[in-house]
Amino acid sequence: MKKFTGIHKAVFPVAGLGTRFLPATKAQPKEMLPIVDKPLIQYAVEEAYAAGARHMIFVTGRNKRAIEDHFDTAYELENELEAGGKTQLLELVRSLAPADMVCSYVRQPRTLGLGHAVLCAQPLVGDEPFAVLLADDLMCGPAGDQGVLAQMVRVFESAQASLIAVQEVPLEHTRRYGIVAGSPAGERLIRIDRMVEKPSPESAPSRMGVAGRYVLTPSVFDHIRRQERGAGGEIQLTDAIAKLIESEGVYAYQYAGKRYDCGSKEGFLEATVELALRHPEVGERFAAYLKSVSGDAGRG
Ligand code: G1P
Repeated sequence: MKKFTGIHKAVFPVAGLGTRFLPATKAQPKEMLPIVDKPLIQYAVEEAYAAGARHMIFVTGRNKRAIEDHFDTAYELENELEAGGKTQLLELVRSLAPADMVCSYVRQPRTLGLGHAVLCAQPLVGDEPFAVLLADDLMCGPAGDQGVLAQMVRVFESAQASLIAVQEVPLEHTRRYGIVAGSPAGERLIRIDRMVEKPSPESAPSRMGVAGRYVLTPSVFDHIRRQERGAGGEIQLTDAIAKLIESEGVYAYQYAGKRYDCGSKEGFLEATVELALRHPEVGERFAAYLKSVSGDAGRG
Protein backbone atom coordinates (compact mmCIF):
# COMPACT_ATOMS: atom_id res chain seq x y z
CA MET A 1 0.00 0.00 0.00
CA LYS A 2 1.12 3.55 -0.77
CA LYS A 3 2.60 5.31 2.26
CA PHE A 4 0.61 8.36 3.35
CA THR A 5 2.73 11.43 4.04
CA GLY A 6 0.90 14.31 5.65
CA ILE A 7 -2.45 15.66 4.59
CA HIS A 8 -3.04 18.35 2.01
CA LYS A 9 -6.80 18.74 2.11
CA ALA A 10 -9.04 19.84 4.95
CA VAL A 11 -12.83 19.66 4.88
CA PHE A 12 -14.96 22.12 6.84
CA PRO A 13 -18.63 21.17 7.06
CA VAL A 14 -20.27 24.58 7.48
CA ALA A 15 -23.80 24.10 6.15
CA GLY A 16 -25.48 23.82 9.58
CA LEU A 17 -28.16 26.33 10.51
CA GLY A 18 -26.81 27.31 13.93
CA THR A 19 -30.23 27.26 15.58
CA ARG A 20 -28.65 27.19 19.05
CA PHE A 21 -27.39 30.73 18.47
CA LEU A 22 -30.55 32.37 17.19
CA PRO A 23 -31.18 35.24 16.77
CA ALA A 24 -27.44 35.94 16.22
CA THR A 25 -27.33 33.38 13.39
CA LYS A 26 -30.52 34.41 11.60
CA ALA A 27 -28.68 36.31 8.86
CA GLN A 28 -25.05 35.28 9.37
CA PRO A 29 -23.30 31.91 9.52
CA LYS A 30 -22.58 30.62 13.03
CA GLU A 31 -19.00 29.96 11.88
CA MET A 32 -18.55 33.72 11.47
CA LEU A 33 -19.27 34.44 15.14
CA PRO A 34 -16.07 35.92 16.54
CA ILE A 35 -14.08 34.83 19.55
CA VAL A 36 -12.46 38.16 20.51
CA ASP A 37 -11.51 39.36 16.99
CA LYS A 38 -11.47 36.27 14.78
CA PRO A 39 -14.39 34.26 13.45
CA LEU A 40 -14.60 30.62 14.53
CA ILE A 41 -13.96 29.36 11.00
CA GLN A 42 -10.66 31.24 10.84
CA TYR A 43 -9.35 29.47 13.94
CA ALA A 44 -10.13 26.15 12.27
CA VAL A 45 -8.56 27.15 8.94
CA GLU A 46 -5.41 28.37 10.69
CA GLU A 47 -5.20 25.08 12.59
CA ALA A 48 -5.48 23.14 9.32
CA TYR A 49 -2.84 25.32 7.65
CA ALA A 50 -0.47 24.83 10.60
CA ALA A 51 -0.97 21.07 10.18
CA GLY A 52 0.17 21.26 6.54
CA ALA A 53 -3.17 21.45 4.71
CA ARG A 54 -3.18 23.85 1.76
CA HIS A 55 -6.45 23.01 0.07
CA MET A 56 -9.38 24.10 2.24
CA ILE A 57 -12.73 22.63 1.19
CA PHE A 58 -15.85 24.21 2.65
CA VAL A 59 -19.13 22.33 2.50
CA THR A 60 -21.54 25.23 2.58
CA GLY A 61 -25.25 25.94 2.30
CA ARG A 62 -27.52 28.92 1.74
CA ASN A 63 -26.71 32.00 3.85
CA LYS A 64 -23.01 31.09 4.07
CA ARG A 65 -21.58 33.60 1.60
CA ALA A 66 -19.84 35.55 4.33
CA ILE A 67 -17.43 32.61 4.72
CA GLU A 68 -16.42 32.79 1.04
CA ASP A 69 -15.97 36.55 1.27
CA HIS A 70 -13.88 36.19 4.41
CA PHE A 71 -11.23 34.11 2.64
CA ASP A 72 -11.38 36.11 -0.60
CA THR A 73 -9.46 39.27 -1.50
CA ALA A 74 -11.23 42.43 -0.25
CA TYR A 75 -9.99 44.95 -2.85
CA GLU A 76 -11.85 48.03 -1.59
CA LEU A 77 -10.78 47.41 1.98
CA GLU A 78 -7.17 46.74 0.98
CA ASN A 79 -7.07 49.89 -1.17
CA GLU A 80 -8.41 52.03 1.67
CA LEU A 81 -5.98 50.60 4.19
CA GLU A 82 -3.10 51.07 1.77
CA ALA A 83 -4.10 54.67 0.99
CA GLY A 84 -4.42 55.38 4.72
CA GLY A 85 -0.96 53.92 5.39
CA LYS A 86 -2.44 51.31 7.77
CA THR A 87 0.21 48.73 6.95
CA GLN A 88 -0.32 46.48 9.95
CA LEU A 89 -4.04 46.12 9.33
CA LEU A 90 -3.35 45.57 5.64
CA GLU A 91 -0.99 42.73 6.45
CA LEU A 92 -3.52 41.26 8.85
CA VAL A 93 -6.25 41.28 6.20
CA ARG A 94 -3.92 39.80 3.57
CA SER A 95 -2.61 37.09 5.91
CA LEU A 96 -6.06 35.49 5.89
CA ALA A 97 -5.43 33.94 2.51
CA PRO A 98 -1.74 33.01 2.16
CA ALA A 99 -0.57 32.69 -1.47
CA ASP A 100 -0.15 28.91 -1.21
CA MET A 101 -3.66 28.31 0.19
CA VAL A 102 -6.50 27.28 -2.12
CA CYS A 103 -10.16 27.46 -1.06
CA SER A 104 -12.95 25.47 -2.70
CA TYR A 105 -16.63 25.57 -1.93
CA VAL A 106 -19.19 22.88 -2.50
CA ARG A 107 -22.86 23.03 -1.54
CA GLN A 108 -24.64 20.54 0.66
CA PRO A 109 -28.13 20.95 -0.80
CA ARG A 110 -29.88 19.48 2.24
CA THR A 111 -28.68 19.23 5.81
CA LEU A 112 -28.73 15.44 5.96
CA GLY A 113 -25.99 15.08 8.56
CA LEU A 114 -22.24 15.23 9.02
CA GLY A 115 -21.58 12.05 7.04
CA HIS A 116 -23.52 13.43 4.09
CA ALA A 117 -21.66 16.76 4.32
CA VAL A 118 -18.30 14.97 4.16
CA LEU A 119 -19.48 12.93 1.17
CA CYS A 120 -20.29 16.19 -0.66
CA ALA A 121 -16.55 16.97 -0.51
CA GLN A 122 -15.48 13.69 -2.16
CA PRO A 123 -15.15 15.05 -5.73
CA LEU A 124 -12.69 17.64 -4.39
CA VAL A 125 -10.85 15.33 -1.99
CA GLY A 126 -10.38 12.44 -4.43
CA ASP A 127 -8.38 9.41 -3.41
CA GLU A 128 -6.18 10.75 -0.63
CA PRO A 129 -6.33 11.08 3.15
CA PHE A 130 -7.93 14.27 4.43
CA ALA A 131 -8.82 16.09 7.61
CA VAL A 132 -12.27 17.10 8.83
CA LEU A 133 -12.55 20.06 11.18
CA LEU A 134 -15.77 21.10 12.89
CA ALA A 135 -15.37 24.83 13.47
CA ASP A 136 -17.80 24.76 16.42
CA ASP A 137 -15.10 22.97 18.34
CA LEU A 138 -12.38 25.51 18.96
CA MET A 139 -9.22 23.58 19.80
CA CYS A 140 -6.24 25.16 21.56
CA GLY A 141 -3.02 23.19 21.78
CA PRO A 142 -0.57 23.72 24.66
CA ALA A 143 1.54 26.91 24.48
CA GLY A 144 4.06 26.75 21.63
CA ASP A 145 2.29 23.79 20.02
CA GLN A 146 1.20 23.95 16.36
CA GLY A 147 -2.30 22.85 17.20
CA VAL A 148 -4.33 19.69 17.72
CA LEU A 149 -4.59 18.78 14.02
CA ALA A 150 -0.80 19.06 13.62
CA GLN A 151 -0.40 16.61 16.52
CA MET A 152 -2.80 14.26 14.76
CA VAL A 153 -1.02 14.48 11.40
CA ARG A 154 2.24 13.45 13.08
CA VAL A 155 0.53 10.42 14.64
CA PHE A 156 -1.23 9.64 11.35
CA GLU A 157 2.10 9.49 9.52
CA SER A 158 3.37 6.82 11.87
CA ALA A 159 0.07 4.91 12.39
CA GLN A 160 -0.92 5.06 8.65
CA ALA A 161 -4.55 4.76 9.71
CA SER A 162 -7.56 7.00 10.33
CA LEU A 163 -7.45 8.97 13.53
CA ILE A 164 -10.14 10.67 15.57
CA ALA A 165 -9.61 13.21 18.34
CA VAL A 166 -11.20 12.20 21.65
CA GLN A 167 -11.47 13.44 25.19
CA GLU A 168 -13.08 12.07 28.33
CA VAL A 169 -16.58 13.51 28.80
CA PRO A 170 -18.92 13.41 31.81
CA LEU A 171 -21.17 10.33 31.72
CA GLU A 172 -24.29 12.50 31.67
CA HIS A 173 -23.07 14.13 28.42
CA THR A 174 -22.61 11.02 26.25
CA ARG A 175 -25.75 11.97 24.27
CA ARG A 176 -23.87 14.96 22.84
CA TYR A 177 -20.99 12.98 21.31
CA GLY A 178 -19.79 10.12 19.20
CA ILE A 179 -18.41 7.69 21.80
CA VAL A 180 -15.53 5.28 21.12
CA ALA A 181 -14.23 2.24 22.96
CA GLY A 182 -11.17 0.10 22.32
CA SER A 183 -7.80 -0.95 23.67
CA PRO A 184 -4.66 1.08 24.45
CA ALA A 185 -2.29 1.19 21.46
CA GLY A 186 0.47 3.58 22.53
CA GLU A 187 0.89 6.99 24.06
CA ARG A 188 -2.46 8.85 23.86
CA LEU A 189 -3.68 6.21 21.37
CA ILE A 190 -6.60 3.80 21.52
CA ARG A 191 -7.33 1.26 18.79
CA ILE A 192 -11.07 1.62 18.34
CA ASP A 193 -13.26 -1.44 18.31
CA ARG A 194 -16.64 0.26 18.85
CA MET A 195 -18.02 3.62 17.94
CA VAL A 196 -21.58 4.87 18.57
CA GLU A 197 -23.21 8.21 17.83
CA LYS A 198 -24.79 9.98 20.81
CA PRO A 199 -25.60 6.99 23.04
CA SER A 200 -27.50 7.31 26.32
CA PRO A 201 -25.28 7.16 29.45
CA GLU A 202 -26.67 3.65 30.12
CA SER A 203 -25.65 2.28 26.71
CA ALA A 204 -22.41 4.27 26.19
CA PRO A 205 -19.46 1.87 25.71
CA SER A 206 -17.09 4.36 27.43
CA ARG A 207 -16.75 8.03 28.28
CA MET A 208 -14.39 8.78 25.38
CA GLY A 209 -16.17 11.45 23.35
CA VAL A 210 -15.26 12.46 19.81
CA ALA A 211 -14.07 16.06 19.44
CA GLY A 212 -14.46 17.72 16.04
CA ARG A 213 -11.14 16.71 14.43
CA TYR A 214 -10.64 13.71 12.17
CA VAL A 215 -7.89 12.48 9.84
CA LEU A 216 -9.50 9.95 7.52
CA THR A 217 -8.44 7.62 4.74
CA PRO A 218 -10.52 7.99 1.54
CA SER A 219 -12.12 4.54 1.94
CA VAL A 220 -14.49 6.17 4.45
CA PHE A 221 -16.40 7.62 1.47
CA ASP A 222 -17.56 4.14 0.34
CA HIS A 223 -18.96 3.51 3.80
CA ILE A 224 -20.74 6.88 3.96
CA ARG A 225 -22.33 6.24 0.58
CA ARG A 226 -23.77 2.96 1.84
CA GLN A 227 -24.76 4.42 5.19
CA GLU A 228 -28.40 4.54 6.22
CA ARG A 229 -29.77 7.29 8.42
CA GLY A 230 -28.77 6.96 12.06
CA ALA A 231 -29.09 9.08 15.21
CA GLY A 232 -31.42 12.08 14.68
CA GLY A 233 -32.44 10.71 11.24
CA GLU A 234 -29.12 11.89 9.79
CA ILE A 235 -26.35 10.19 7.81
CA GLN A 236 -23.73 10.04 10.52
CA LEU A 237 -19.96 10.14 9.99
CA THR A 238 -19.63 8.12 13.20
CA ASP A 239 -21.63 5.21 11.71
CA ALA A 240 -19.48 5.18 8.55
CA ILE A 241 -16.29 5.17 10.64
CA ALA A 242 -17.75 2.32 12.72
CA LYS A 243 -17.95 0.34 9.45
CA LEU A 244 -14.43 1.37 8.45
CA ILE A 245 -13.17 -0.34 11.63
CA GLU A 246 -14.13 -3.68 10.10
CA SER A 247 -11.75 -3.25 7.14
CA GLU A 248 -9.00 -0.89 8.45
CA GLY A 249 -7.51 0.05 11.79
CA VAL A 250 -8.98 3.27 13.21
CA TYR A 251 -7.43 5.02 16.20
CA ALA A 252 -8.68 7.48 18.78
CA TYR A 253 -6.16 10.09 19.79
CA GLN A 254 -6.32 11.77 23.19
CA TYR A 255 -5.09 15.18 22.10
CA ALA A 256 -3.02 17.55 24.20
CA GLY A 257 -4.88 20.81 24.62
CA LYS A 258 -8.30 22.18 25.33
CA ARG A 259 -11.57 22.08 23.43
CA TYR A 260 -14.18 24.80 23.67
CA ASP A 261 -17.63 23.72 22.56
CA CYS A 262 -18.53 26.94 20.79
CA GLY A 263 -21.74 25.37 19.53
CA SER A 264 -23.05 26.00 23.06
CA LYS A 265 -23.45 29.38 24.72
CA GLU A 266 -21.41 28.35 27.77
CA GLY A 267 -18.51 27.05 25.66
CA PHE A 268 -18.61 30.14 23.49
CA LEU A 269 -18.42 32.40 26.55
CA GLU A 270 -15.60 30.34 28.11
CA ALA A 271 -13.59 30.60 24.88
CA THR A 272 -14.25 34.33 24.70
CA VAL A 273 -13.05 34.94 28.27
CA GLU A 274 -10.00 32.66 28.11
CA LEU A 275 -8.81 33.81 24.69
CA ALA A 276 -9.39 37.44 25.65
CA LEU A 277 -7.21 36.94 28.74
CA ARG A 278 -4.43 35.58 26.49
CA HIS A 279 -4.86 38.24 23.81
CA PRO A 280 -1.67 40.35 23.39
CA GLU A 281 -3.58 43.60 22.86
CA VAL A 282 -6.42 43.43 25.39
CA GLY A 283 -5.42 40.60 27.77
CA GLU A 284 -3.97 42.60 30.65
CA ARG A 285 -6.69 45.22 30.76
CA PHE A 286 -9.38 42.57 30.42
CA ALA A 287 -7.91 40.62 33.37
CA ALA A 288 -8.05 43.77 35.51
CA TYR A 289 -11.61 44.41 34.36
CA LEU A 290 -12.71 40.83 35.19
CA LYS A 291 -11.19 41.19 38.64
CA SER A 292 -13.12 44.39 39.22
CA VAL A 293 -16.47 42.91 38.15
CA SER A 294 -15.99 39.70 40.12
CA GLY A 295 -15.33 41.94 43.14
CA ASP A 296 -18.61 43.71 42.45
CA ALA A 297 -20.43 40.38 42.13
CA GLY A 298 -18.93 39.26 45.46
CA ARG A 299 -20.37 42.34 47.16
CA GLY A 300 -23.79 41.44 45.66
C1 G1P B 1 -20.68 15.97 15.84
C2 G1P B 1 -20.40 14.48 15.69
C3 G1P B 1 -20.14 13.85 17.06
C4 G1P B 1 -19.00 14.60 17.74
C5 G1P B 1 -19.32 16.11 17.83
C6 G1P B 1 -18.13 16.89 18.37
O1 G1P B 1 -21.91 16.14 16.51
O2 G1P B 1 -21.51 13.85 15.05
O3 G1P B 1 -19.79 12.50 16.90
O4 G1P B 1 -18.78 14.07 19.03
O5 G1P B 1 -19.64 16.64 16.54
O6 G1P B 1 -18.42 18.24 18.49
P1 G1P B 1 -22.70 17.57 16.57
O7 G1P B 1 -22.07 18.34 17.70
O8 G1P B 1 -22.51 18.21 15.25
O9 G1P B 1 -24.12 17.20 16.86
